[in-house]
Amino acid sequence: MASLTLCCSRRALFANTHHTKANGSSTWRLMHTLQRRQQQLQQSCGRLRAAAAATTTIRTAFAIEPKVNANCSAFQQRCNTTDAKKKPKLVSIKESRRFMIDCFKAVCVPEDHAVAQAELLVGADIRGHFSHGMNRLEMYVNDLATNATDGKAEPEILSETKATAWVEGHNGLGAVVGNFCMDLAIDKAFDVGVGWVCAKGSNHYGMAGWYVLRAMEMGLVGMSMTNTSPLMAPTGAKKAALGTNPLSMGASADNCDGFLLDMATTAVAVGKIEMQRRKAAPIPAGWALDPNGKVTTDAELAFKTGCLMPLGGAEDTSGYKGFGLGAMVDILSGVMAGAKYSTQVRSWTHHGADIEADLGHVFIAVDPSCFAPDFGKRLSDFNSRLRGIEKADPCKPVLIAGDKEKKNLETIEEAGGIEYLENQLKTCEALAKKLKIKPLKFL
Ligand SMILES: NC(=O)c1ccc[n+]([C@@H]2O[C@H](COP(=O)([O-])OP(=O)(O)OC[C@H]3O[C@@H](n4cnc5c(N)ncnc54)[C@H](O)[C@@H]3O)[C@@H](O)[C@H]2O)c1
Repeated sequence: MASLTLCCSRRALFANTHHTKANGSSTWRLMHTLQRRQQQLQQSCGRLRAAAAATTTIRTAFAIEPKVNANCSAFQQRCNTTDAKKKPKLVSIKESRRFMIDCFKAVCVPEDHAVAQAELLVGADIRGHFSHGMNRLEMYVNDLATNATDGKAEPEILSETKATAWVEGHNGLGAVVGNFCMDLAIDKAFDVGVGWVCAKGSNHYGMAGWYVLRAMEMGLVGMSMTNTSPLMAPTGAKKAALGTNPLSMGASADNCDGFLLDMATTAVAVGKIEMQRRKAAPIPAGWALDPNGKVTTDAELAFKTGCLMPLGGAEDTSGYKGFGLGAMVDILSGVMAGAKYSTQVRSWTHHGADIEADLGHVFIAVDPSCFAPDFGKRLSDFNSRLRGIEKADPCKPVLIAGDKEKKNLETIEEAGGIEYLENQLKTCEALAKKLKIKPLKFL
């Protein structure tokens, strides 16, 4: 029942944020969707309880921080080796959320948008994707402060059919555009079985799986992809021509289980190199190239060069498959949405940016009940078969996509907060001063 209330209130919330030029039947559609959702929720209550509980935990916790013109040398100073060796500090989820919201509000982002963006970032931190959590705050804030991103912008539907929609993000925050589009795709999936929504005019939308989780909470199969600033060298090239272009696909299963694949199509997300840099540690071979197009293990050099290798690494280890996946993501998001694509996309650094990003995203929601019966039961069985297969190392479990993130959620809950590295905390301290907001408090 708790999950039902939670999900219905979420639907009411997103219904209020829909903005469409010609949508006379939207009220009827919403009521119809709500009825169908209630039926579905009753059928899959057990499956949804876990997701709802996780969401409630997150809700009771978030926060953000504002902007100043953080320059590269200041950033580098904060990333010094001594700090990297200091013990991480624990920050409550609530305080992390509060801080991030305050930061966004300090650069004139309206409360609801600040909350959406903060929840995205805290959602990444608590799942262990620190590269796309607080680590990204400074960049978002810088873009907002320079008006490279419009924190107040609301997305708008440009055209739609029963199953599709094309959305103009109006240069709004990634989470605002992303939540709007995935909720629209969910709406359509409840109406006609599938919803496919493309957005242009958007900004960095963080963890791709965040939007997929919204579909999973509704008992749907979700997918999401985005293009990003060029960072990946195509196989055989020494310059970047594609972003880290993440893709995510997920579905809830019976017995509180699920599958959530959420991955960059480069060997790693660039944030992982930033995290190694914050720790003053090397990167494994196969992640990035140096300025001469040779593989490097130097995190600092890799960060400065900004040329990642595709998933799979070099050609002889099938890196061309990662290159192909990255290109697929850009075709479905940038090219199809009418956004910038490939080398057209601006570069993006801790300085912020002085031009609009005009990123493209795609969001897909599918109602599994349109196909074979017992999807949740079958997916649960599928997962058990994979996890139950004989292990290569008896001490190391076979994991499926999403297991690590679930484990991270448990660890955060046990610890009572999120452990942030000293370099990250210094960035927050500098942000608090610049934005004149209450500093981040540790436990
Ligand atoms: N918005 C953007 O521009 C952008 C760009 C790139 C990445 N990202 C985000 O960065 C985050 C990190 O991406 P990443 O590629 O570094 O993720 P990752 O390599 O940590 O994990 C990728 C996937 O593999 C799964 N996984 C991890 N270890 C596993 C194991 N041992 N066995 C089976 N499955 C396993 C994870 O559950 C996850 O689904 C993601 O949330 C992604 O969406 C965002």
